[in-house]
Amino acid sequence: MKIVLKIKVGGLLKILGILSGKGGVGKTTLAINLSYALHEFGVSNILLDGNISNANVSVVLGFSYIPITLQDVIKGKADIKDAIRVHPSGIKVIPAALSMSKASTKMKRIRSKLEKLNQLTIVDFPPGFTDNVIALMKASDELLIITTPEKSAVTDAMKSVKVAKSLEKKVLGVVVNRFKNDRFELKPDNIESLCESPVVQVIPEDDRVRKASFSNRPVTEMYPYSPASIAIKQLAAKLIGKKYIPPRFVGIRRILGLK
Ligand SMILES: Nc1ncnc2c1ncn2[C@@H]1O[C@H](COP(=O)(O)OP(=O)(O)OP(=O)(O)O)[C@@H](O)[C@H]1O
Ligand SMILES: [Mg+2]
Repeated sequence: MKIVLKIKVGGLLKILGILSGKGGVGKTTLAINLSYALHEFGVSNILLDGNISNANVSVVLGFSYIPITLQDVIKGKADIKDAIRVHPSGIKVIPAALSMSKASTKMKRIRSKLEKLNQLTIVDFPPGFTDNVIALMKASDELLIITTPEKSAVTDAMKSVKVAKSLEKKVLGVVVNRFKNDRFELKPDNIESLCESPVVQVIPEDDRVRKASFSNRPVTEMYPYSPASIAIKQLAAKLIGKKYIPPRFVGIRRILGLK
């Protein structure tokens, strides 16, 4: 598997978009856990919920009351710095409004708002190819496309790569999520050739992802040695030009619930 990625951090603004085209393939999961893994590696970053018509990050992380939303920031009603919420895990989040009445906002102004923060921002995209998705793509410096190994998801990932390239955006690569390695899946090599972009990480199917989400926590924090957590930490390390080597006896640590 070819891997060449390195986001520049520290001083330089970088907006990293996580998108998929198809819904439900793991964008929010990856965005939250990359944010946590980078934070754990000492890389300060902000997680932006780009799902303005259907807040995702806050739902998974359990924020039920959001005093200042992304919509307030885009509409010029609040300063972006005041919208940042810190999750108990340490992740810094700019949440989207949970309420439907606040939902309809255009994303065009998002880049100029994020520039004020001048720090690595991970953007959790909504599904589809709506105007807001295109605006978020335009606002991003680099993009990671996520897919599951199914035909319908991969077809949308191919489309995402094409749209990104047509916008002259750098696609870092494709992440294959919920990989079971059975006969009914496309393999990473096939996905790589179909998408004309390298598969930079395979994340296995892992029940602990849902368990952690049920507890409003990132899986990388709650179950740091589960298979999905290790894969996401490996990806986070690649993004900053490092290598993550899990500690020895991971299986025993997992059983004993050790950090
Ligand atoms: N590696 C994994 N193993 C098991 N379950 C997973 C994995 N990744 C994600 N999931 C589960 O898949 C579901 C969809 O994930 P998620 O919400 O991250 O997708 P999404 O692409 O953000 O969806 P949407 O398009 O609706 O925003 C969730 O229930 C999540 O817990
Ligand atoms: Mg989502």
